[in-house]
Amino acid sequence: MSFGVSMIKPAASNPATLPELTDALVASVKAKRAAVLDLLQVASKTFSAITFANSYGAEDMVLTDIIAKEKLAIEIFSLDTGRLPAETYTLMAKVEKNYTTKPVVFFPKHEAVEDYVRTKGINAFYESITLRKACCDMRKVEPLKRALAHKQAWITGMRAEQAATRSSLPTREFDEGNQLEKFNPLSDWTEQEVWAYIRLYDVPYNALHDQFYPSIGCAPCTRAVAIGEDVRAGRWWWEDPNSKECGLHVKK
Ligand code: ADX
Ligand code: SF4
Repeated sequence: MSFGVSMIKPAASNPATLPELTDALVASVKAKRAAVLDLLQVASKTFSAITFANSYGAEDMVLTDIIAKEKLAIEIFSLDTGRLPAETYTLMAKVEKNYTTKPVVFFPKHEAVEDYVRTKGINAFYESITLRKACCDMRKVEPLKRALAHKQAWITGMRAEQAATRSSLPTREFDEGNQLEKFNPLSDWTEQEVWAYIRLYDVPYNALHDQFYPSIGCAPCTRAVAIGEDVRAGRWWWEDPNSKECGLHVKK
């Protein structure tokens, strides 16, 4: 496994590398914002128990901004795995300050984390896919189950372009695994549109995005990407791209 990080600028994973906000880009972002707002309004009217999963990545900051500014009746929650980068906690604090809508934070069960660390080791997730998935199960998937308990629908910031595993992502689907409705309102957004939104509406974002981290998860399982690499190349970079999902979004 290589921990080396190339600092060559990638195409569009850093806000500073983005092209100008042209009239066409601004028009497209505004039209897409209006479509997302329509979808979220319908979703929140149809499902009173609805919640948005906020990882504090760039996409999720777009949705946080829309939900908070439009005062939509949608709860926001975050899964704090205990291994998030310092920059994510800095952004969490900024969101608490800048927006009136406060995300509800879910943590893993301490007994499970203590048992894993004592018996397998603090960084055992590097040793095998089984141990990596066991870590994601206890730090993300089990807390997600609690976050979704008694909910009728949930919302994510996933985009179809992000990964081979997401290429046919619909904006609305039934989540068989969790048995509730699931909305992916940014499914058809490009990375460029996400960053144009952030710039246009002056949305706070994770400082790691300025250091070539297009996709951010837990600190030990996320690295920067190099030119030509896809946006999720820095997540579990030692694993096969066709299977690297943490279990939050797997199909039954
Ligand atoms: S992951 O499955 O590989 O971790 P990714 O980081 O691409 O997912 O995020 C996809 C979506 O999953 C996010 O837009 C968000 O809705 C949800 N998500 C991921 N991580 C978290 C988290 N720690 N807390 C809340 N939601 C999350
Ligand atoms: Fe554990 Fe890494 Fe999964 Fe985070 S991303 S829960 S540290 S294996």
